[in-house]
Amino acid sequence: MSLLITGASRIETPTGHSARRGREMEHLRAIPDAVVRCEGSRIVFVGPKEDHDRLFDQPDELLDARGGAVIPGFVDPHTHPVWAGSREDELDRRLHGETYMEIARSGGGINATVRATRAASFDELLRSTLGRLDTFLLHGTTTIDAKSGYGLDLETEIRMLEVIRAADERHPVDLIPTCLAAHEVPPEYRDDPEAYIASVTGRIHPEIARRGLAQAVDVFCETGVFDVSQTRRLLADAPRYGWGIHLHADELTPLGGAELAVELGAMSADHLVHVTEGGIAALAGSETVATLLPGTSFFLRSSYAPARRMIDAGCAVALATDCNPGSSPTESMPAILALACLQMGLTIEEVLTAATLNAAAALGRADRYGSVETGKQADLVVLNGPSAHHLAYHYGVNPVRHVVKGGRVVVADGRLREAPAFGG
Ligand code: NIG
Ligand code: FE
Repeated sequence: MSLLITGASRIETPTGHSARRGREMEHLRAIPDAVVRCEGSRIVFVGPKEDHDRLFDQPDELLDARGGAVIPGFVDPHTHPVWAGSREDELDRRLHGETYMEIARSGGGINATVRATRAASFDELLRSTLGRLDTFLLHGTTTIDAKSGYGLDLETEIRMLEVIRAADERHPVDLIPTCLAAHEVPPEYRDDPEAYIASVTGRIHPEIARRGLAQAVDVFCETGVFDVSQTRRLLADAPRYGWGIHLHADELTPLGGAELAVELGAMSADHLVHVTEGGIAALAGSETVATLLPGTSFFLRSSYAPARRMIDAGCAVALATDCNPGSSPTESMPAILALACLQMGLTIEEVLTAATLNAAAALGRADRYGSVETGKQADLVVLNGPSAHHLAYHYGVNPVRHVVKGGRVVVADGRLREAPAFGG
């Protein structure tokens, strides 16, 4: 099966097979009037139409970009896409003056979603997750990190990761599973967090590893959740299971999470709203990607991570939605990119790199995803404007015209091609 994308105003993409850091994040390749040819799931040609026509036969299928820009499919490197229930009541409470942490301490927050998720069946969770994946895809996201963490017991953590596996098999979006059993201390262990840590390291992690349900592990390292020494113990078994490490680091307080992530060789340190100067320097001198989540700052009305300073210091920055029911209920990477430009002061070139190649690197997959280049998986977005600037300029609406995933047209003119097969 071959596909040719014609009629693009230009192709805009970062290039390479590893994260771009610091100033390099500005360097996009922009090719005017080019075509992209996909064979099977791969990109086999990017360049002028005349060259294509000399080298290749007629394709099986044509996709007309109608003057839109072609960019890589978004990779969202931090999501919590499986949950039951809703927490819009907490937004109302916050708008009346309570804080996220006060609500969490009074039985809301993560543990409210844990109660609803424990009570939900596999089928209920799968159905709602597939619906969210449709929304991700319609907004141009073709690969996500997908975390567990609303079970906080062996049975429900397994159920969540099995939902992630089933959703990956059924839906065009690729899901890379991350075990986040250490997302919070569950209520039954409130008086003895150490016993929960023992259960995570002694029972939950080994069983999830035995079943092959995760490729990475994550911990919410935060004051009042898991401190640095507890986090270190929770992550000690990651190398034995072959898991990459992500870390919720320095989100609400400066705990030294960034430094710990670097010390452990983590693929990413995420949030970083309260990262210290030492943390920035450590990240800049490491392979650990700084994954920033401006949607969470926006939704919690907090300050933003110091993205400009981090890039200027030479960090590799990625962007993610943090899609979850409490602190960032959105699947939209375009919304995140607009916030990163307009609230964090990044350029379009930087946010495009952050949401594609660097996001892929944060998941250890920059060899496969994150750029429009020969040999990469054919995951592409056609915007309904002539340049990537459209992403932040035409904000608050969906700027995605077409989406190609693995060489297949999955969204055409803003609609899912095979809707019933995906989310039905
Ligand atoms: O990444 N920080 C911890 N976890 C999520 C919040 C999850 C929730 O509130 O349900 C986050 O922001
Ligand atoms: Fe998160």
